[in-house]
Amino acid sequence: MPTPTPAPLPVAELHLHLDGTLEPDFIMETAARNGVDLPWNDLADLESRYAFTDLQSFLDLLYVNLTVLRTREDFAEMTRRYLARAAAAGVRHAEVSSDVQAHVRRGIPAQTVVGGIRDVLDRSEEDFGITTRLIVSFWRDAPAEEALGLLRELIASGARFDGIGLDSAEVGYPPSLFTEVYDLAREHGLHLVAHAGEEGPPSYITEALDVLRVERVDHGIRCLEDDAVVERLVADQVPLTVCPLSNVRLRTVDTMADHPIMTMLERGLVVSINSDDPPYFGGHVDANVAAVQDTFGADDATMARFARHSFVSSFLTDDERARYLAEVDAWLEGRTAARG
Ligand code: HPA
Ligand code: ZN
Repeated sequence: MPTPTPAPLPVAELHLHLDGTLEPDFIMETAARNGVDLPWNDLADLESRYAFTDLQSFLDLLYVNLTVLRTREDFAEMTRRYLARAAAAGVRHAEVSSDVQAHVRRGIPAQTVVGGIRDVLDRSEEDFGITTRLIVSFWRDAPAEEALGLLRELIASGARFDGIGLDSAEVGYPPSLFTEVYDLAREHGLHLVAHAGEEGPPSYITEALDVLRVERVDHGIRCLEDDAVVERLVADQVPLTVCPLSNVRLRTVDTMADHPIMTMLERGLVVSINSDDPPYFGGHVDANVAAVQDTFGADDATMARFARHSFVSSFLTDDERARYLAEVDAWLEGRTAARG
C-alpha cells in the first residue's frame, strides 16, 4: 500500500504580497500576451535574477515584474494561482495584501486591481476552501500624500478591503510619516498592519504601535535587539508575521540556522510562519514550515504552536477562529496517533 502523504500543518497565512506571487513563467507569458516589454531576454535570463543582496535588490526585480499585470483578469488569475497553491500548502485562511499603488502609478485603475482580486476572493471558500481578507499596502518610500489620496479614492469608490499595510524600502522611512493615512483608515474601521523591524531598527516597531496604532507587525524580527521592545510585544501579545525564507534570501539573517524564530517563540512572542513573496524566496508557507521544522528539529507540538499563533493573529471572527484552532488540535492528534 502506498504511504499516505501526511496532511500539511493547517495555518493562516497573514503576510503574503499577491503582487509577489507571480511565477517566472507566468511573468513571461503575461508580458507576451499584454505586449509589455520586459528587460529580460527570456525565461532563463529572468530566472538568473533571483539572487538578492538586500531588500532593495529584491524590490528592484519585483517592481519590474509586476508591470506585466494589466487587465482585471490578470489580477484575478494572479489571485487564483496563489490560492490554488496555498490550499496545497495547508493554508486554511489567508490575509493577502496588494500594492495597489504600484499599479495605479502606471495608469491601471484601482478598480481594475481590486476588482480582479475580489472576483476571486469573494469565492475563495467555495473554490479553494480558504477564507480570505484583503489588505491594501502602501509604499513607505513614496510620498504619504500619494497614499492618502489613494486611500480616499478607494474608500469613496466603495472598494471592499479589510485593512491597510505599509511595505517597500524600510530604512529612512519611519512609520510616523504615515500617521494621517492610518488615522483615516482607523476612522473607517479598517484593520491596521505595517512592516517594521525587517531591515529597520526596533524603534520603528515601537513607532508603528504608538503612532500608527497597528494591530499586527509584519516581520518584526529586529525587536530582539531591544529587550524593552520584546517585553512590550510579549505583554501586549502583539502578533508578528515572520517570513523565514524571505529573511534568509534578503540577508536579514545569514542562514536558516541563524534565524531567531525559535528564540522569539521561547521568549513568548506571538510569532507565525508566512511566505511573503513565495517564488522570490524559495517557497510557499509549507516550505517555510519545513525549513523551520528541519533546521531546528522542532517537534509537531511546536509547529502546532506556530499554527495556533497564526489563527490567533488573524482578523477572523471568533467562530471561524475556533473552528480552525480545532483543526490544528486534530492535526496534532493525528500526528501523535500516526507515531503510535
Ligand atoms: N518588505 C518590504 N516590502 C515588500 C516586501 C517585504 O518583505 N515584500 C514585498 N514588498
Ligand atoms: Zn512583506
